[in-house]
Order: sequence, then structure tokens, then C-alpha cells
Amino acid sequence: MMQSRPSPTCSVVPEGGTSLSRCCGFNRQGLKSGKNSQFTGQTAMAKIRTCVIGCGPIGNLHARIYKDDELAELVGVCDIIEERARAAGERFGVPWFLSAPEMLAALKPDVVSICTGGYEYSSDHYEPTMQAFEAGCHVLCEKPILNEIGKAEEMVRTAREKRLCFGVDFNHRFTPAAYLAKRWLDEGRIGDLLFCNFALWIGKPGSFESPYFHIKALNPHSVDMMRHFCGDIAKVQCFAMKAPGRNIWSTASFNVQFANGAVGHLTSSYDLARGHPMERCEVAGVKGRFVIEDMWREVTLYPADDLVKQVYTNPIFGGYRSFDDTFRERIHCFLKQISEGASPEDIDGSGADGLAAQKVIAAAIESLETGRVVEVPS
Ligand SMILES: NC(=O)c1ccc[n+]([C@@H]2O[C@H](COP(=O)([O-])OP(=O)(O)OC[C@H]3O[C@@H](n4cnc5c(N)ncnc54)[C@H](O)[C@@H]3O)[C@@H](O)[C@H]2O)c1
Repeated sequence: MMQSRPSPTCSVVPEGGTSLSRCCGFNRQGLKSGKNSQFTGQTAMAKIRTCVIGCGPIGNLHARIYKDDELAELVGVCDIIEERARAAGERFGVPWFLSAPEMLAALKPDVVSICTGGYEYSSDHYEPTMQAFEAGCHVLCEKPILNEIGKAEEMVRTAREKRLCFGVDFNHRFTPAAYLAKRWLDEGRIGDLLFCNFALWIGKPGSFESPYFHIKALNPHSVDMMRHFCGDIAKVQCFAMKAPGRNIWSTASFNVQFANGAVGHLTSSYDLARGHPMERCEVAGVKGRFVIEDMWREVTLYPADDLVKQVYTNPIFGGYRSFDDTFRERIHCFLKQISEGASPEDIDGSGADGLAAQKVIAAAIESLETGRVVEVPS
């Protein structure tokens, strides 16, 4: 479908002052022209045909966002549970399916969101992701990419071989505060990196089928943020505890060494009710230090040689309203990169990033089991 519309400008903060243009436009490299250039154009652009596989709470959120996004047209949804597929289809007014291959063959979408869960919240990602690649679709997969490293490697390799874009929903990266922090880094205002301290906690009571559920399901976000700002992680040491009444490693502490020599620490927990705050990211270098509080709420720059700090606070008008806005922005960025013909290598928060985070987590679990410092395979 061809439609006339203004080019997307979507600013997440009001004009004037520090403008943090929505999505990818903020201090990022220009996108290359690639195979997806059929979506580009000044005055007319084809909407990107999107489907969602997995209609739980997160799949419904993706579907709602595709429905609202100016770049996308939601064309179908799928779940192996009929009640869920039907409810989502009726909610969004699109055809619903019980089989992903049938939906992909019938609707031929450009982009597919994989919102399945499974064992350790990710074992069901593999099959529909591979089916979507087989059907020639770009894929945005929920985190964690997959709980099995070998198969996750296969997913990344398949996307690369087919020249398809593969993104992971690392939505914590996609906030004005994180964009600004990245800009400070890229401008050299932090200087040579020294350390990173990251903490993320939510209250997630109950028992789980895997003792590693918390470490594997929560920490793709935290490890990705650490890698996003400080680069590859080379070595990991992990300690963890089972909080009273828990059957899983519910609170964990990682010590890491980055490939560039900087050091880092991560604390994560399923044992603490969210409240405020629930996520903190501190990165320091020889020239300064920044701290992001709660993903989008605030970021502060502390220059090493200046007693005056800089603070960005999420504005009441035009700012993020809730956690859902991180998904909205992440999904919009993926759509925008596709529409601008980005090469698979340019995808922000890529499948390769998802795989790298999962390797760090696997190394941490090996460290927890053996008591040793573990090298992360590159
Ligand atoms: N990015 C974030 O901040 C964030 C937050 C929460 C959850 N998540 C992730 O989102 C994903 C989904 O979470 P959820 O709570 O909605 O899960 P859920 O288990 O409630 O829903 C998943 C749905 O996928 C369906 N499904 C499984 N295999 C399928 C297949 N082959 N074809 C079609 N449907 C299939 C299931 O029937 C189920 O209805 C998980 O991977 C989770 O880790 C991400």
C-alpha cells in the first residue's frame, strides 16, 4: 500500500534546549542504502507489513505499537493457543492464525516480531524466528535471544547469510537519557573508560522451572547496556544467592572485565519490589562520569574537572509516560532502520548483540557453578 505522509520526525522532547530526536537520529551514523530501499522515498512510502508471533502480554504490546506506528501496518497475529490468537486478531482487527508458517505464507509480511516465551522465557524463540527468516522476513525478537547458545548462533548466522535484519528488543537502550549518555561518550566527555556499575531489580516472586531463570531472563538487558556503553566483556565472575523461600538464584552479582581493560559490576535481583528506582547505570572514565536513573527518568554528567554537573530529566510534557514507551521507541527505531534501507550490520540492538549478551550470561553461570573466573568466548 502506498501512502502520502510527512517524513517521520517524532521528537521525544520538546524543541529547543537539548533536542533528542526520536530514534536513531540522535548522534548515530548515517544509514546505508541497502536491500530495503523500496521503503524509502520523500513523499510516498509503502507501509511496512508487520506480523506478531506469540500473543501474550508482550505480543499484544508489539501489536498495539505496530498498529499505532506511522511506518507500519499490522497485517496479522499468531499464537498456538486459539483463545489468545483470536482475542488479539479481534482486538486489532487483523487476521489471526494458529500456525506461524501458514501466516507467513498467506500474508508475506516484511517484519515479524517474535514474542514467544518458553523455558527460561526464550526457548520458543528459535522455531518461529527461523521460520520467519525462511520466509524472507526481517525479525525483531524479544529478549533473551535464546537460552541455547548454539542455536542462537544459528539464528544470527542465518540472518547474516540471508542478508535479513535481525533485532533484539533491548528496549532499555532506546530512551532519551541513554541516547544522551551515548552522545557524551562518543564526544569524548567521559574519556578513556575506567568502570561501569549497573544494577537492575524487580520483584518477581514465585517458583520457576529453571534455577537460572532470573539470571537468564532479566540480565540480557543489563549486560546489553554494559556492552552498549563499554564494549565487549572478556571475563566474568559470578556470585549468587537464593533469597529466603526461593528455589532459584534470585539475586546475583557479576564482576566483569571489558575487552578494553575497564572493569565493571552488575547487581541484579528478583527479590526487591520495583518502586523507585529500579535500574541504575553508572559509567566512568578519566574525564567524567554519567549516571542514568531508571532508563529514561534522569541522566547526569559529572565532568571530572568541573564542579558543575549537567542533568537531563524526563519532561512531564512530551517525555516518556511509562515503560511501554521504551518498546514504542525501540520498535519505531527498527522500523525506521528498515524503511531507510539499513544493512543488517547497522541494526541497533542486533541479534549479534543478543548473542553476545547471552554468552556473557552463560559464562556467569559457569562461574557460579565452578567458582572460577570464566572467559567469554568471542
Ligand atoms: N523487553 C522487555 O522488557 C520484556 C519484558 C517482559 C517480557 N519480555 C519477553 O517477551 C517474551 C514474551 O513474554 P510474555 O510474557 O508475553 O510471554 P507469554 O508466555 O505470556 O506469551 C507467549 C505466547 O507465545 C505463544 N507461542 C509459543 N510458541 C509459539 C509458536 N511457535 N507460534 C505461535 N505462538 C507461540 C504461546 O502460546 C504464548 O501465548 C518473552 O521472551 C519475554 O522474555 C520482554
